[in-house]
Amino acid sequence: MTLRQAPTKPLRFLKGGVLHTLHEVPPDRTLLEVLREDLHHTGTKEGCGEGDCGACTVVVGHLHGSKLQTHAANSCIKLAHAVDGMALWTVEDLGAPDGRLHPAQEALVQCHGSQCGFCTPGFVMSMAALCEQAGDTPITRERAQQALSGNLCRCTGYRPILDAACRMQSLPPAPLDSPVLRKQLKALAKVVAVDKAAATSHAQSADSAYLAPSTLPALLALRQAHPEAQLVAGCTDVGLWVTKQHRQFARVLDTTRVEELRQVDRYPHHIAIGAAVSLQDAFAALVKDRPQLQSFADRFAGLPVRNAGTLGGNVANGSPIGDSMPLLIALGSHIVLASTRGYREMPLESLYTGYRQTCMAADEVLAYIKVPRPQRGQLARVYKISKRTEDDISAVCLALQLQIHKGQVTQASVGAGGVAATPARARATEAALRGQPWTEATVRAAMETLRAEFSPISDMRASGDYRRQVLGNLLWRFWLESQGAIATDIHRLDLELQA
Ligand SMILES: Cc1cc2nc3c(=O)[nH]c(=O)nc-3n(C[C@H](O)[C@H](O)[C@H](O)COP(=O)(O)OP(=O)(O)OC[C@H]3O[C@@H](n4cnc5c(N)ncnc54)[C@H](O)[C@@H]3O)c2cc1C
Ligand code: FES
Ligand code: FES
Repeated sequence: MTLRQAPTKPLRFLKGGVLHTLHEVPPDRTLLEVLREDLHHTGTKEGCGEGDCGACTVVVGHLHGSKLQTHAANSCIKLAHAVDGMALWTVEDLGAPDGRLHPAQEALVQCHGSQCGFCTPGFVMSMAALCEQAGDTPITRERAQQALSGNLCRCTGYRPILDAACRMQSLPPAPLDSPVLRKQLKALAKVVAVDKAAATSHAQSADSAYLAPSTLPALLALRQAHPEAQLVAGCTDVGLWVTKQHRQFARVLDTTRVEELRQVDRYPHHIAIGAAVSLQDAFAALVKDRPQLQSFADRFAGLPVRNAGTLGGNVANGSPIGDSMPLLIALGSHIVLASTRGYREMPLESLYTGYRQTCMAADEVLAYIKVPRPQRGQLARVYKISKRTEDDISAVCLALQLQIHKGQVTQASVGAGGVAATPARARATEAALRGQPWTEATVRAAMETLRAEFSPISDMRASGDYRRQVLGNLLWRFWLESQGAIATDIHRLDLELQA
């Protein structure tokens, strides 16, 4: 059954520098459907349809001030209207009119980086995005690995593909950016802004099926007017409801253009991360204060999902196996909910009332996540246990932050994921640690408390027994690491705070 929906405003984007204007594109139509089925540009492939394989990767670009910012994105779970007013490139758009290949394509040929070729358009696009972003900075193997972390190849093997990614810069460049493109984007932005203003100002009369306001007051007014609308940010969770559960949305309210929600503000005692800040940027902000979190950040999905997905989406979705929440709980984070009635702030763990249920009212949105800055004597770590290192969901996640003063634990906060119906705070374990000497005996006792505190279920990722066992083991790992790390982390923090 097709849902009745309000008309949508025209969808306009530049693809390979050519303006496309599409009419009456449903609000829940994916970008991949538009590319393959409406435009018949079939170079972009569909593999998994859930953001997991990278076959559908495209490059999206938008103006940030006068600069073009580009990133790789999974078109299978991106709603088409999300690229309204932007530039887009698919594998068809990279070669020059005279037949010369883009360095990403040429390097793959030279390094024998393709066999059956199904994954190749996706790899080419992730490599083209990397090439564009790297500019003159040398592409290391590590950086290439990061950039290709969302692309799967089942036949060639990754060595030649990584060789190709590292070779691209030795070939004649073919930048996607150009003054002409930026001029076109500026002109397009004006047209889109006029359309958008018309759509959002008629919010009360409910005349647009895809709403993408650009200010917080406009978002809140639209949320109040359309509580039934599907709120979306990066769509890396919601996209799967469309492609896998075949859900339909008569109206979509997109948060990703709201300026206030796209900012990270640093204050002396906390950082405020807007709910629509991408996971990649949000983790960069967290890592700036706590460099030890980098390896955890790199293990959240793959790069295209981190580029599109937001921290607010992870928190609001409330999955018990969501990765950011155990960490944010351990760091003592608060969230700010907003509506036309005003703001309310609460500890992050208070948001969750049950399995994927929150206390957010129908007219509210998650606006900010406030994360305290690190303090002297604090030791923070987060551990993710999953079957694959990259691009996999946690079976168990444990995050700990301890304040240790003269060998005593003065503060303890512990967040856990994958062990209860919601992301959870391990209060009994915190109590078992607080006020105790930081010794092996304390840790062994706290490990038993932690294992007894939750009753995790068995599912395809892990058995309940395994999860309980691992929880305790991770606390033991924290203890072992702390023997060297306390000295180095605390010394580094002391130096930073003195500077
Ligand atoms: C391949 C793949 C790998 C993944 N790997 C991981 C992983 O390793 N760890 C992990 O935790 N997750 C992972 N995810 C899940 C997903 O990427 C994250 O949950 C992401 O943070 C969701 O953010 P989003 O912006 O895409 O949210 P969306 O999909 O846009 O929205 C998710 C939910 O949040 C709500 N929402 C969004 N913004 C707001 C707001 N401001 N106020 C109120 N409600 C809001 C939406 O209404 C919706 O209910 C993965 C997903 C994919 C496809
Ligand atoms: S088709 Fe697999 S990530 Fe899109
Ligand atoms: S070349 Fe066949 S899947 Fe990669």
